Amino acid sequence: MQTLESIIEGKTWSGEGSDYESCNPSNLDDVVATVRLAGPDALKAAAESGRRAQREWAAVPAPVRGQFVAALGRLVAANKETLAQLVTREIGKPIGEARGEVQEIVDTCDFFLGEGRRLYGQTVPSEMPDKQLFTFRVPVGVATIITAGNFPVAVPSWYLVPALLCGNAVVWKPAEYAAASAKAFADLIWHAGLPKGVLNLVFADGQSTFDGLRDSLEAKLVDKVGFTGSSAVGTKIGELCGRHLQSPCLELGGKNPMVITEDADLDLAVEGALFSGFGTAGQRCTSLGTVIVHESVHDEFVQRFDAAVKAAKAGKPDDDVLFGPLLDEKFAKSYEEYLGWIGEHHTVLGSTGTGRITADNPRDGFVGDPSKGLFYHPVILDGVKPDDRVFLEETFGPIVGVTTYQTFDEAIELANKPGYGLSSSVYTTNPTTAFRYRQGISAGMVSVNNSTSGAEAHLPFGGNGKSGNGSRQSGIWVLDQFTRWQSMNWDFSGKLQKAQMDVAEVQPDEDFRL
Ligand code: UN1
Repeated sequence: MQTLESIIEGKTWSGEGSDYESCNPSNLDDVVATVRLAGPDALKAAAESGRRAQREWAAVPAPVRGQFVAALGRLVAANKETLAQLVTREIGKPIGEARGEVQEIVDTCDFFLGEGRRLYGQTVPSEMPDKQLFTFRVPVGVATIITAGNFPVAVPSWYLVPALLCGNAVVWKPAEYAAASAKAFADLIWHAGLPKGVLNLVFADGQSTFDGLRDSLEAKLVDKVGFTGSSAVGTKIGELCGRHLQSPCLELGGKNPMVITEDADLDLAVEGALFSGFGTAGQRCTSLGTVIVHESVHDEFVQRFDAAVKAAKAGKPDDDVLFGPLLDEKFAKSYEEYLGWIGEHHTVLGSTGTGRITADNPRDGFVGDPSKGLFYHPVILDGVKPDDRVFLEETFGPIVGVTTYQTFDEAIELANKPGYGLSSSVYTTNPTTAFRYRQGISAGMVSVNNSTSGAEAHLPFGGNGKSGNGSRQSGIWVLDQFTRWQSMNWDFSGKLQKAQMDVAEVQPDEDFRL
């Protein structure tokens, strides 16, 4: 067991703070780390440290910063198994998925190490002779990045790797219940050759983080905010940033729909619904929310889906299971609240019980001993109605609603109704339906004959509506989050040429007719 403290400018932050225990959710007796939670002053001190270090980092040529990203990718690959085991121990993600999560960091580094040699600007013609126009990407400065713990290392890498490659300094505030994984990733970053102070790691609770961010923004120490978490907290961060004329990068919740049409391959749809609904115990922002199935195939789909979820292996995450425990007590509590939204008109399917899996409330085929962990029965809720809370609100955890539709327009309306817009999926064998779905759905990400989760690391990732403010991460698109465009014009005519006024004009013969 380790004690973790914030690291600012390469040194342990020794301010006042309370202690938090990050526990293994499949065995709560196993304390992975004691985390010293800092006060708001640590976020401000970290941003000051970033401010001091950033200019020098930005002066390092981008291809050399790319070498740091390449080294990080190699270090992460060399430590893949250890980091994956730690992620599994700390947040209960099945080991196969944890390895995939670490791979996602390597993929992200693979993409951005080359960006160090691109980071292109443009040369643009001027409207006047002997004058040249250019564009440059300029780092924003200091970025404060606040991340969730369901993807404790991969999603942070989507922010940190491009932010650092682009020449920014970063203050990273990870989730306290994933602090050991975060510290391990930060150690890999520092060992990849990043100068001290360019990345500062702060452990703090929600209120101190908010207050520290507010103080940092007021002191003009932060130029960009990144946040992955709930829509409720994202809204508050958006308001705070707006007051400082900043547009944060917000990656928020989802109520991701899956439309299954009358011509869908049902076996494929069941497999997709199973993985996106119950893989990661339904704790991805891209997890399946509601299946919207054509009424003609509803009964057949539900019967097969129920059988698949009942047969799915749940249990010890170091085994080959589909899902393990909930992330931590906070998530178990909120999941129990969602279970309270189940009404008389719903049919509960998918397991041998509901609620916490215990010796008295067992699940058939459970792998291991459920007594010490936060293991919950998966729930399929058939008969969900569009006005149900469970239809309209995100239910982070292993619960999937099922509802029906008659016409395709109705399916689109239902899919958009909750007002989120992160991920979505359609199962159909008709290409026209697939394109009509893409046109009609409000989500930032659309899967055709694939699960709602599992986006690849180099496509734009982000949502609309309650899922975000339109910002996109990953691939070339995230560069617009961590750089600002600067334009330059250079007049070498030796005289003042006035734009719009001293411009030559073409003289067409407007009256000409053939
Ligand atoms: C998240 O849950 O915040 O597309 C991100 C996916 C993963 C990322 C999920 N690659 O499901």
